[in-house]
This record gives sequence, C-alpha cells and structure tokens, in this order.
Amino acid sequence: MSKNKKFTLITMIAILVIVILFGFTQIYSLVTKGFGFGWKSLNPLEMPVILEDKNNDPNIADYELIAKEGETEFIEGLKTDTLGYNGSYLGPILRIKRGEKVNISVKNQLEVPTTLHWHGLLVDGEQDGGPLQGIEPKQSWNPSFIVNQPAATLWYHPHFAGTTANQVYFGLSGLIYIEDEISNKLELPKEYGVNDIPLIVQDRNFQKDGNFDYRTSMMGVVPGEVIIINGTVNPYLEISEEKIRLRVLNASNSEYFKFSLSNNDSFQQIASDGGFLEKPISMNTISLAPGERAEIIVDFKGNDEKKIFLMNDNMKILEFKISENLKSSIEIDKTLTTIEEIAIGDNPVQREFVLESMGISGTINGKYYNMERIDEEVNINETEIWAIRNIGGMMQTGGHPFHIHGTQFQIISRDGKKPPLGERGFKDTVFVRVGEEVLVRVRFKYKGIYMYHCHILEHEDNGMMGQFEVQ
Ligand code: C2O
Ligand code: CU
Ligand code: CU
Repeated sequence: MSKNKKFTLITMIAILVIVILFGFTQIYSLVTKGFGFGWKSLNPLEMPVILEDKNNDPNIADYELIAKEGETEFIEGLKTDTLGYNGSYLGPILRIKRGEKVNISVKNQLEVPTTLHWHGLLVDGEQDGGPLQGIEPKQSWNPSFIVNQPAATLWYHPHFAGTTANQVYFGLSGLIYIEDEISNKLELPKEYGVNDIPLIVQDRNFQKDGNFDYRTSMMGVVPGEVIIINGTVNPYLEISEEKIRLRVLNASNSEYFKFSLSNNDSFQQIASDGGFLEKPISMNTISLAPGERAEIIVDFKGNDEKKIFLMNDNMKILEFKISENLKSSIEIDKTLTTIEEIAIGDNPVQREFVLESMGISGTINGKYYNMERIDEEVNINETEIWAIRNIGGMMQTGGHPFHIHGTQFQIISRDGKKPPLGERGFKDTVFVRVGEEVLVRVRFKYKGIYMYHCHILEHEDNGMMGQFEVQ
C-alpha cells in the first residue's frame, strides 16, 4: 500500500470509530453548537465601556442611551442579530455618584416599543421606566432624578409588558454603579477593568447560522447550553493582582446560577443587591437568581501561573489566567458599612403575595398582570411587612425571584429562620423556593406607581406581575 492510501484508510477508520462512538447527532451538535468546534477557542472577556457624562458640572450628569438593533460576532465568522444600548449588544455602565442629579435621554431606535427601567434604583414611579413609561419607536424618554442611596451595583433593562423577555434576551441590559463616601473610602479593589470586574452572566442558545435560538413553550424556556459573560463566549480574564473584585449580575431570563471556583477555594461576598454587607462573608458557593447581584472578592495569592475557572455547577464558564508574580493587594477592610434595620411601627401593615406558576405563565395572589389595575395602595415612608409565598406549580428552576421596584428591602426570615449572612444586607430581589415563605421589611421613600413581579422574565411577561401605588 502506498503511503497515501494507507493514510486515507487510517483516516476513514478513524472517522468511522468516531462516528460509532459519538453518533451522528452528537457530532452534528458539536459542530453546530460549538464546544471547541467553530468557536474561537478562548476570548478575552469584554469590558463594557463606562458611559461618558456629557455635563461638566460635577453635580449633574447628562447621559444618552440609544436602544438599537445590531449584529454581534459571538462565534468567529458568524453574525448574530442582537439589540444593544449605544452598541450592538448590552449597554455601557452608568457610574453615578450619590447626590448627583442625573438626566438621561433614552432614544428608542427599535421597530417596536420599549421602556428603560432602573432596577434597584430609588426614584419616583414616573422615572422608574416600568411598563407604564413606554417609548414608541423613534421617540425619546427623558427621565431625571437625584440618586440618594448607598453605593451598589444595580442594572437597567427594558420593561415593556409582554416583550421584556425577548428584548433582554437579544441584548438589552446594562449595569449601574453607584458610588458614595463609603465606597470611596473603603480599602477595596476599585480599578475598573483591572481589579474591579463586571460579570454580566447569561445563558444562550445559538442556531447554526449564528443567530440566537430563543425558544419557549407552554412549559417554559429552553435553558441555554452556552454561558456568555459580558457578551463573550468562552471568556478568559488575565489576573495580575492577588485580589480581584467581581461584580456579578445574573442577567439571564430564567436560569438560576450556582457559582464556585474550580479549586474550591473560598471567596468573600462584600455586597448584595442594594450595596455593601456589614462585613465580608466567606463562602465557597454563591447562588444568584435572575435579577440578583453580588460583589465578591477572590484572592488568587499562591496560585501564580495556574489556571482557575469560575464554575456554574460543574460547568467552566470563565477562565482566570493567572500571571506569575501576582501584584500583592491591600487588605480588605473588616468592616464595610453599618446596616441599620429599617425602623418599623407598632402595627405595621402586612401584605401577602402568593406566587403560583403554570408552565411559562403564573399569577400573584391568583391574578394576572393588568396595566389598568392597582393591586395595592401603600403609604409613603411607612414600613410594612410583606410575606411572599411560593405555593408551587410547574417550572424548571424551583423558585421565583420576587422583585420589588422603588425600594431596597430587608429579609426578615425564610420559613421562620433568619436568612443566611449574605442575605442580611439590602435586597431588591429575593428567590422564593417552592413551599417557602419569605418575610421582608419594606419601605418606600418616593411616590408613584411601581411593579412587583417574578424576575423570570417569561413569567413576568405572562402575568406574574402586580402594581402598587405609593402615596
Ligand atoms: Cu429588573 Cu421590574 O425589573
Ligand atoms: Cu426593577
Ligand atoms: Cu417565576
């Protein structure tokens, strides 16, 4: 046999063996969906830009956000139709100082109506960007507010009734950083993109042609096989300092994440949805439901030149490429802030919110969302106790992330027990498991009509939302 024929024969046998071992379907899905084939093997983690403030006055910020269609290359050589703010996918970071007056011009260049909601921000109902503040195509919306709340990592996303899930899936989301005296003073990694890193985590499915494959059925959403971070497929991050601060947002429509490090090292949680915890809390895993955020500090000391991964369950989702001779970092402050309990009167108003889901839709207190209806009337500046109960139904994640607009609340208990340490700070979204009852202390400092809803966006779009008016 000639060398050439021998080679062909060996190749054919090899192909045959591979086909038998994996089966045609698996190979097809490997080739089309990635996992090594077709993907750029590893990509540097994208960093969203920090939006430029167009006002020179240090006490006033003027921002412009344009919602538009675009194309994004997640997979080498393929174009994905996407949506973004000012760019093709996701949006810039709004970095706001406490006390600053913020004017934002939101332009809708989509072909459909949208809204822009500031998730976690305390502002008047009319500035909140919920379903009642729709922006028609080619129109603008110009909210303006003064930010007066502690330093925190918040986010923004559309909220038009019935189309939120779709618009977020295709790319409309961005982060908001609030800074205050405490965050400025604390010994923490603060250098954006160097040791202070945003992680916007989302699950996605892709079609062969590179487009997103967003599928829902009566039963729910098809979970994404690919986890993208800041819009990057297969991301890596170069680590050159010991301590890195990660600001993690679960910006998925419906997936629940459980993060850990591949070497099982512990890390420290320093902030929850509404800002810093009183002290750093050491842990090995942290779970985030859709809409929730956490800031964590990972210490890579002693791991020079190693590869460590950020995991979601058993899946590697971000590679940390650790350089040699890591720059040593400062000690993290042992006390971050003081959190006072939200003061409460003698006979606080108590309300109950019963969550029930049926596949992709669901109800709160037996009702589907109705824009024309105000479900609850709430007095301004009066602390209330809200009991959120999940009585079950059919769904995939085993719980509902319950989110309240216009407030940062405190969790009193989960099924009668004190919440874990990482949930003792301010929250705007709380995950409520099937059969569980969560009590929260909540107070509203601004007036207007706001939403409460499940942050599984398909649930929200299909009825699991209510309205309350603060007066
Ligand atoms: Cu993250 Cu009603 O929103
Ligand atoms: Cu919100
Ligand atoms: Cu839900």
